[in-house]
Amino acid sequence: MVVLTFFNHAGGVAKTSTIRDVGFVLAEAGRRVLLIDMDPQANLTKWLGIDDDIDLSETVYPAVLGSAETADGDDAELRLPEPRSVHGMDLVPAHLNIAIIEREILSVFMGVLRLREAVRRVEGYDFVLIDPPPSLGQLSALAVVAADRVVVPLPTNRKGLDGIQTVIKMVREYRKAAPGLDIALFVLTQHDRRTRHDRESHDIIVAQLPSLAAISSPLSSRPAYYSDAQVQGMPIPLYAPGSEADKEIRQVAKELLAALGGWR
Ligand SMILES: Nc1ncnc2c1ncn2[C@@H]1O[C@H](COP(=O)(O)OP(=O)(O)O)[C@@H](O)[C@H]1O
Ligand SMILES: [Mg+2]
Repeated sequence: MVVLTFFNHAGGVAKTSTIRDVGFVLAEAGRRVLLIDMDPQANLTKWLGIDDDIDLSETVYPAVLGSAETADGDDAELRLPEPRSVHGMDLVPAHLNIAIIEREILSVFMGVLRLREAVRRVEGYDFVLIDPPPSLGQLSALAVVAADRVVVPLPTNRKGLDGIQTVIKMVREYRKAAPGLDIALFVLTQHDRRTRHDRESHDIIVAQLPSLAAISSPLSSRPAYYSDAQVQGMPIPLYAPGSEADKEIRQVAKELLAALGGWR
């Protein structure tokens, strides 16, 4: 089993979209995939078509802070809840109230390790993919520290370029709590090859990063597909099978497997 957190503290860089779509492709290929939504906005949960009432007990909350039944201070039994099943994947959904974790975890000794420990008690998966919120708060720290490897979505524009140094610095910081943590792959997202700005940003990113980790081929910007797929509650490869968007996602999933090498 490999635990991958898709991390970039910036919002709107396609973390959630890429987890949803790569997770689907891996599951379709017969891999057992668990998705964990760590963003109080719950985009991953909603975009997979789950819009009924989520109870806090179904989220990461009990795995991180315990439930009413768990004795205070006894973290030995903190476990992830029974996941929802969606489009061939399992999902631990999010709820607005997981934002409470940001504050409460601060009073837990070594609290930042709680998700890492809970995820390691999980059995039966090949991939656990974790979707953090767009911030550098405790939810993101929990999510990244839980990972074996980090996947960094980067849009091929100014925002992508500006975020790189902070992402690298933060992964180094989080490594203090998660020895061996490193970046497996930079995934280039929202690429608009028609604009010179995007073509130049793409080339700068590729020139700047090669020694750190593998870089994926770009996922093209396709606003209509992405917003329609969200409304339908479907991953892109399910919403538009055989499309160019679908092919690009499959290519990135393949590149991710290659970047993971021995983990496969
Ligand atoms: N390849 C793409 N083409 C067009 N829009 C995209 C693409 N990838 C993501 N988006 C859109 O960009 C926005 C941000 O993506 P999202 O996955 O929510 O990023 P994050 O999780 O990093 O905040 C969403 O509205 C999404 O639909
Ligand atoms: Mg997101």
